[in-house]
Amino acid sequence: MRIIHTLSEMRDWRGQAGRVAFVPTMGNLHAGHMALISEARRHADQVVVSVFVNRLQFGQGEDFDRYPRTLTQDCALIENECTSAVVFAPGERELYPHVIQQYKVEPPALQDELCGAFRPGHFRGVATVVTKLFNIVQPDVACFGKKDYQQLFIIRSMVEDLNMPIRIVPVDTGRAPDGLALSSRNGYLSADERAEAPRLYFHLQRMQKAILGGERDYARLAVETVMDLRVRGWSEVDYVETRNAHTLKPATHTDRDLVILIAARLGQTRLIDNLEITL
Ligand code: PAJ
Repeated sequence: MRIIHTLSEMRDWRGQAGRVAFVPTMGNLHAGHMALISEARRHADQVVVSVFVNRLQFGQGEDFDRYPRTLTQDCALIENECTSAVVFAPGERELYPHVIQQYKVEPPALQDELCGAFRPGHFRGVATVVTKLFNIVQPDVACFGKKDYQQLFIIRSMVEDLNMPIRIVPVDTGRAPDGLALSSRNGYLSADERAEAPRLYFHLQRMQKAILGGERDYARLAVETVMDLRVRGWSEVDYVETRNAHTLKPATHTDRDLVILIAARLGQTRLIDNLEITL
């Protein structure tokens, strides 16, 4: 495994490399990230994993400062998964030399829905850093997790709309045995909160079962989820929505491929999850 910290070293390395599969991350890696790396290996000889906590995608009052930075531990995990991987871990000044990023990538209206409605500017920050990383790493393939379903959708449509010559490969959500979607933010949870957190997946499965059983009143299912989470002491339920899995538009009764998306807060910690349904 090799660690690269600068753009110039990355460019030199890329000049010599063949097909590259890329896994962008913010570090504090867990088994969900490892599944992305393992998938990446199937698509190219060389795997690049970036580790960069991107200030641009965090809003004011969000967890940028306390986001876990665990590069040494991350490198050990990457080495274990793929000994030949290249870790790209640029310093902040390396990616943002002007401190303020001057040109930004502006996603379409979907950026203000779902998570975007609660995290203004978040997807602009994601689209911008991913474009920068794509330009630096110049991958043939890039792997993104379905755990961040709206992010995956925005990156896919960006790559298509801006004709970026990169194949985006989606990877299924990795979960703990109790169903909780793996996330770097799970580390913020207290023991009691951690025990409660799988309730999100419980409701996704409950709603999935009802819809597969013929229920089409998606709003009613959502209200049931919101009420239960409130009663159980969740501090905020940002949204519970059933959408078309291909367009991310609100689901209609004729849609066959659906996705239920949920975002809620336990104490200070914001958790998201989703589940696809094919009718
Ligand atoms: P991060 O949250 O570190 O996630 C990096 C990648 O891992 C994303 O594609 C995410 O969807 C995927 N991932 C996270 N948890 C997962 C899980 N439980 N199962 C499967 N995949 C999972 O997403 C970001 O970083 C950033 O927004 C980034 C794209 C790196 C841009 O800064």
